[in-house]
Amino acid sequence: MSFDLIVRNATLPDGRTGQDIACTAGRIAAIEPRIEAQAAREIEAGGQLVSPPFVDCHFHMDATLSLGLPRMNVSGTLLEGIALWGELKPLLTHEAVIERALRYCDLAVSQGLLAIRSHVDICDDRLLAVEALKEVQAKVRPYLDLQLVAFPQDGYYRSPTAAANLARALDMGVEVVGGIPHFERTMADGAASVRALCEIAAERGLLVDMHCDETDDPLSRHVETLAFETQRLGLQGRVAGSHLTSMHSMDNYYVSKLMPLMVEAGVAAIANPLINICIQGRHDSYPKRRGMTRVAELRDMGIPVAFGHDCVMDPWYSLGQADMLEVASMAVHVGHLTSREAMRASFEAVTTVPAAILGLADYGLAPGCHSDMVILQAADPIEAIRMKPVRLAVIRRGRVIAETMPKVTALRLDGRPDMVDPAAYAPREGAATPS
Ligand code: FE2
Repeated sequence: MSFDLIVRNATLPDGRTGQDIACTAGRIAAIEPRIEAQAAREIEAGGQLVSPPFVDCHFHMDATLSLGLPRMNVSGTLLEGIALWGELKPLLTHEAVIERALRYCDLAVSQGLLAIRSHVDICDDRLLAVEALKEVQAKVRPYLDLQLVAFPQDGYYRSPTAAANLARALDMGVEVVGGIPHFERTMADGAASVRALCEIAAERGLLVDMHCDETDDPLSRHVETLAFETQRLGLQGRVAGSHLTSMHSMDNYYVSKLMPLMVEAGVAAIANPLINICIQGRHDSYPKRRGMTRVAELRDMGIPVAFGHDCVMDPWYSLGQADMLEVASMAVHVGHLTSREAMRASFEAVTTVPAAILGLADYGLAPGCHSDMVILQAADPIEAIRMKPVRLAVIRRGRVIAETMPKVTALRLDGRPDMVDPAAYAPREGAATPS
């Protein structure tokens, strides 16, 4: 038996070690210890972690890498970011949006990030960004799954042409219905927008992913409406609420009623820790709220929680490098998710959980799945979050599409080892005596 590719001696995210992964015709054929077979290419993983690719379920590819155009966000607030984007929007060109998006996709591939759900602003009557990102979607399809959300950035009701533009964008093949209820003129308009947008998704058989309650206002209640409409329209399992930062500030009693409603409705939650920690709490003096939604409590209720990058070098966030482990690391810190279990779940929040939210077919490390994977210079998911390590190889459909040299530092210290070994700091879980 001969395969296209065998990755040897892999450690899998579930803890299995010494696994060989055999791939043929773009699919995983077998995962077993010591597969006795030949392959056109063999890669020795050397006991390192081999993961399914990273998935970003919340991004804005029409705005990415536009930092400084036409100016910087001085206040750091969401509202100045939206205003700044409004200044840039009329200046966008088809070519520039495509060029920046492709540059971002290159960066994403280098980081093992092979699936992205991107919101695309439809409040530009030209729908220039929609056309541009549809082109990008087709161009990157061989190596990156790009899913688009029709996003009425300026408000579905607040922007006079948003409703017509959103329908046009969906007609053009945008797959997911978005929204921004907290930016509508009133709480009532916000709730009405959630209802209208969920009805559109139900009629068209589409998914929903709404920016929902991205505010520090403890009385912002749109996730309740989103859960209600999801249930009313039978959209269970097809709806995600993005941000949900108001949940950070909500009254505990109210949250104890809200979360079971989300469970009933099968609504998933998407936190964006890098952006939430930077944008929320800007109107506070001290203490400054962290803003990220209640990740641990949502998980405990059985609600799927994923982490998105949201922004990289754009009007809202001037940092970022398409590294979903940086995103997971920030979530761990902001959310006190430092138990071993919570950190492992945080790795799943940038891999398997968002893959399910996107509805990616045949994703994962199992026979029959696409042979898509990343070899990391780390021993396990927790070390990966700690180290944000080099992606040694990124594999798509059995083909290596990116390789990075391992990070090795030579030490020049008398009486010390020649090299720094990150694994030397690995914990020995369950060790009887500390040393
Ligand atoms: Fe967003």
